Amino acid sequence: MVPMADARRNPQMMSNRAAASENRFRFREANALRAKAEELGLDLPWSDDVASLLEPTRVGDVTLPNRLAVQPMEACDAEPDGSPGAHTLRRYTRYAAGGAGLIWFEATAVLPEGRANPRQLYLHEGNAAEFTRLVRATRQAAHDAHGDDHEPLLILQLTHSGRWSKPSGTRQPVIAHHNPDLDRLVGVNAHYPVITDDELEALESTMLAAARLAARAGFDGVDVKSCHGYLASELLAARTRPGRFGGSLLHRMRFLLDTIRSIREEVPTSLVTSRINAYDGLPHPFGFGADEADSSRADLTEPLALLREMEESGCPLGNVSIGVPYWRPHLGRPFDRPVPGSAPSPEHPLVGVVRLLRIVGELQLALPQLPLVGTGYSWLRHHFPNVGAGAVERGEVSLVGVGRMAFAYPDFACDLREKGGLDYLKSCCACSGCTQLLRSGDEAGCVVRDRGLYRLPRKPRAAPAP
Ligand SMILES: Cc1cc2nc3c(=O)[nH]c(=O)nc-3n(C[C@H](O)[C@H](O)[C@H](O)COP(=O)(O)O)c2cc1C
Repeated sequence: MVPMADARRNPQMMSNRAAASENRFRFREANALRAKAEELGLDLPWSDDVASLLEPTRVGDVTLPNRLAVQPMEACDAEPDGSPGAHTLRRYTRYAAGGAGLIWFEATAVLPEGRANPRQLYLHEGNAAEFTRLVRATRQAAHDAHGDDHEPLLILQLTHSGRWSKPSGTRQPVIAHHNPDLDRLVGVNAHYPVITDDELEALESTMLAAARLAARAGFDGVDVKSCHGYLASELLAARTRPGRFGGSLLHRMRFLLDTIRSIREEVPTSLVTSRINAYDGLPHPFGFGADEADSSRADLTEPLALLREMEESGCPLGNVSIGVPYWRPHLGRPFDRPVPGSAPSPEHPLVGVVRLLRIVGELQLALPQLPLVGTGYSWLRHHFPNVGAGAVERGEVSLVGVGRMAFAYPDFACDLREKGGLDYLKSCCACSGCTQLLRSGDEAGCVVRDRGLYRLPRKPRAAPAP
């Protein structure tokens, strides 16, 4: 918190305080939230009846118990060899007991140099048995809480962190192309080498090997992570890159689609999908899904083409996110308070929520046969099911996924089913505490609702570098 005296002296701090105050959540009553949406000129989907979220839904050949999903949320709590740690196990068994129909496991590195932090999950031949234990415990927790008929879909997100790699705690960026804005953020200059085509081809094989291990461990499927500016996501925007993986859309999609197709062919028992960025907000020519003339607007032509290709390549579902969290965090993660030392949200968080809903909605309406998991609901607190159900009723999303809310309120699905609504006092409050922990390399979780386990350092360190 900025001391008042300092804030008076420094106009920038003053405006940060004003922004924080303006963005404070004052919408405990549904009417207040809906009135704010109206005041801001936003079309907020809404339904008073949340039953659609609790009904079973089809994804490919399987039926999920409901339309509620836990989004991938890394928490920096793996063992040094990449195996799930005790708190990893705690998180997933809590999600499973909490009743969500889909649990999308967090970013899991396929190579040591592609880890985003030294305690990120990393799946390899030497620790696959530990992942089997995690899957079994997760399934068991779901069965114990909800009976044998309740089978959540378990998907593992496979990643190379690319530009944001920090395998030993300091930056070791692996970049797909140069982007002045992001190069500055990770401290590389124009001479820094980009990953070669040969290395990308080798990475396709490594992804395939990891998908085999994931299937052996018992996951239902894998996600070739292509969101938030990590390596495969950055490739989607690599217009200035020469060679097989840059330039035209066909080339830029090659890494993701080839990897998906090889997993589909070689690991037929596994479902394969991707969490994609449909809009990263970066200016042309460096952005994906951004309008060429005005990057503050989305142009979904290319993301739509990508999702169509994914569908044709055998993906039975997609997951859509936006933004690059180290650059414009408010895009993908609408928040009330920023990570200390970072800028406040330049817009009302509800504007960000509705941008996410609209982007997912436009894509889902264009692809009614491909179930999409929607993102960005946590800021809505206990109202998120009404907004999610409204979007489902309009055909603008198939599964409603929450990230920070799952840290705060792992049994949200149970409460919705059993109590007909959520408890405001168990909900995420978009305080950025979990992000702050992750950025500083500490085990991440909810510092408000799970504070017995997760606490912020007494004195906030300087803004953690990407
Ligand atoms: C601490 C933290 C960890 C995250 N880890 C991942 C991850 O592993 N993979 C991923 O695709 N997104 C990750 N995200 C993004 C979330 O999945 C989600 O897109 C974002 O928080 C917005 O959704 P929400 O409003 O429901 O939280 C993470 C976000 C946070 C705050």
